[in-house]
Amino acid sequence: MLGTLWNNPLTRSAAARIEKGHNKLLGIRRTMRLAKTLSKVRNASAWRVRRELYDDHVDRLLAENGPVGSDTIELRDGWAVDHSKSLPHLERLIADAQEIIKERGGVFRGGGERSFFQQILTDEHVARYPSILDFATSNAILAPVMRYMKTVPTLSVSKPLGVRLAESDARLAPPDQRGYAESQLFHRDYHDDPMVYVVVALRDVTRQSGPFSILPASASRTVTEKLRYGSRGVPYRLTDDAVYSAVDRSALFEFACPAGSVLFVDSSACFHYGSRDAIIPRYLMMYAYVSVCRTDFGDLLRPECERPVTDDSARTRRAKYPVGPNDSRLRRLVLDRHAT
Ligand SMILES: [Fe+2]
Repeated sequence: MLGTLWNNPLTRSAAARIEKGHNKLLGIRRTMRLAKTLSKVRNASAWRVRRELYDDHVDRLLAENGPVGSDTIELRDGWAVDHSKSLPHLERLIADAQEIIKERGGVFRGGGERSFFQQILTDEHVARYPSILDFATSNAILAPVMRYMKTVPTLSVSKPLGVRLAESDARLAPPDQRGYAESQLFHRDYHDDPMVYVVVALRDVTRQSGPFSILPASASRTVTEKLRYGSRGVPYRLTDDAVYSAVDRSALFEFACPAGSVLFVDSSACFHYGSRDAIIPRYLMMYAYVSVCRTDFGDLLRPECERPVTDDSARTRRAKYPVGPNDSRLRRLVLDRHAT
C-alpha cells in the first residue's frame, strides 16, 4: 500500500514541486522534516536495523570488516582533518586517481550551472579501481563517520553522489560568468541531517585552487539563527557579506592542504563553499555518507540506474556500487542501501 503510494507518479510530481528551487515552496527546514518523516515511515525497518546494529554491534561489525586501528579521528564541531597521510588504501587511491585525471580531466564535460566544477568519475572507474571503495569502506573512515552519525550509513547513489572525483578549474567556466554562483556561495546541504563528506586532496590544494571552505557547526548555527536560514523565503545560497554580518571571517577553515590530507565534515551542519577562482585545477575525491532515511526526495526522484553509467551523464547518475561475495556485512551495508 505504502509502496504503491510512494511509487505513484502523482507522489513523484508533488515531491518534485516541493523540491524545486532548493525547497522554495515550503522552505528548506520544513521540507527536510517532511522528507525525513516520510522516509522513516517508508524505510522503518532498514532505519531500525541500522540503528540497532550501530547501538549494539558496532564493534563486531568493525572487527569483521578489517583491522581495528587506534581510531583517533573524531569530528568536533562538525568536522575533522587528518594530515597523517597514513590512512589505509590512501596511497593506492591517490595513484589510481592520477590515472583517472589523466584520462578524463581537463576536458569540459558539461557542468550544468556549475561549469567551474565537474564530476569526472564513472561507474566503470569505480569497478576498475578497487582502491576507491576500499578506502571508503575501511574502518579508519567508517568508525569516525558512524560514531558521528550514530547509525550505519550508506554511500549515496543520488545527489550528492556517494563517490565523486571533483575537478574544479576556473577555465571551465564561461568567460562571461560574473561573480560567484551555486556551490561557490555559502550553503548547508539539505540531503540528510546529519551527513558526512569525506574529502581527499588528490593533489596539493592551495588558495589558488579554490579550496573547499567550511564554517564549523557552532558558527554555522549562529549564522542560521541570525539570518533565519532554512526558513521559507530565505535564499539557499548566501553571500559572504550576509554570512560575515553574523560571524567573524576568522571562523572559516580553508581545506588548503597537501595531497593526501583528508577532511571529514557534516555538510548539513557546516556552511561551506568551494571552487572559487581555481586558477590551478583542484582535484578532490568526495565521498558522501547518508542514512537510509534522507531529508530530501532523492530516493524517490533519483533512484540508482539499472546499468553502470560510463558516459558523461555519470556526473549526476550512478548505478549500485559493486558488492562482492566476500565483502563484510558492514561493507555491504555501506555500499547497498537495501542490504540488511
Ligand atoms: Fe554543498
